[in-house]
Amino acid sequence: MTTRSRPAGVQIVGSGSALPERRLTNADLEKLMDTSDEWIVQRTGIHERRLHDKNDPYPTSSLGAKALRAALDDAGMAPTDLGLILCATMTPDSPTPAVSCRIAAQLGCGTIGAMDINAACSGFVFTISLAHELIAGGLYDSVAVVGVDTVTRHCDYSTFGRGAAILFGDAAGALILRKTDDPAPGLIAQAMHSDGDGARALYIPSGMSQIVDAQPDERMNDKIQMNGQKVFKFAVSKFPEVIEETLALAGLAPPEVDHYVCHQANARILEAARERFGLPESKLRVNIHRVGNTVAGSCPLVFDELKKDGQIKPGQKVMFIAFGAGLTWGASLWQL
Ligand code: UT7
Repeated sequence: MTTRSRPAGVQIVGSGSALPERRLTNADLEKLMDTSDEWIVQRTGIHERRLHDKNDPYPTSSLGAKALRAALDDAGMAPTDLGLILCATMTPDSPTPAVSCRIAAQLGCGTIGAMDINAACSGFVFTISLAHELIAGGLYDSVAVVGVDTVTRHCDYSTFGRGAAILFGDAAGALILRKTDDPAPGLIAQAMHSDGDGARALYIPSGMSQIVDAQPDERMNDKIQMNGQKVFKFAVSKFPEVIEETLALAGLAPPEVDHYVCHQANARILEAARERFGLPESKLRVNIHRVGNTVAGSCPLVFDELKKDGQIKPGQKVMFIAFGAGLTWGASLWQL
């Protein structure tokens, strides 16, 4: 956990997002597995999600590049104006190279630094705090933070895999952070947590090595595995806890934050948090019904939607919050 005084201001100067064209509705899922629209909507709030272009050999990089291009346009910046790209993802197109390197090449960013960070659904929230420090500490003038995942590549759309498959969708979002002479904007407080003892609550077994001692079943290989109830219990406790922790570090009360930009994992979890902190619907945007759980793409996508709707204004306070595999959870509170 961290709270700090800032020597230099850091401003969020642009945002962008990208959703694939292809839709997967609950009605489509009913044809693939034993499930129903009613079950999915009641338990998760999801109606449809998006699927990457299956003819694209690099779907994660392509979506990330599209989101970053939009963010650069929003900021009025050229790709060569960037100093560094950090990409939060748990679904790179291949183990190496990093998605961020392909994004830099696709956009023509030159030879700037580029690297990926994996903290699953919490990845974007962790990374935006790190990016802030790289600017505030004087190493860079501008850093792009991309959150992107194409986790549907790891979903088993049969009745065997239905517990997790119905949740996820593909998306990307990106923010551009830039140094400013105004010391006011920037990170107010942040928290990052992990608990590796919960690793098996949500994971993707690869090469069978992780599943032989658990439950050897070929169908699990490379497909996302989730103990839904365990993750649900973890989420409903840690999600409000980390909000409280970050508010306490900042010395703020819940109404003093203008937007809670939350990872969209389940509409019920979001609603429970909103009620607990007594927040109006306008302060905690929910888009999961349209896109599903988009992992590291989730928070920047919500932020970009708010910005496009004219809800994001200078001087506001915005808290990004996420939780996910690892297990990981965290928050990043900003003064815009
Ligand atoms: O980014 C973080 C990622 N994940 C999360 O935040 C997920 C948190 N967990 C959840 O959101 C919920 O646990 C789920 C929505 C995934 C599942 O809801 P649940 O109320 O916990 O259901 P359950 O896993 O306890 O399953 C209840 C029943 C079971 O049948 P029986 O044993 O009662 O006969 C399941 O086999 O529902 C069955 N089931 C389904 N039925 C229809 C499981 N998946 C499905 C499905 N359609 N897709």
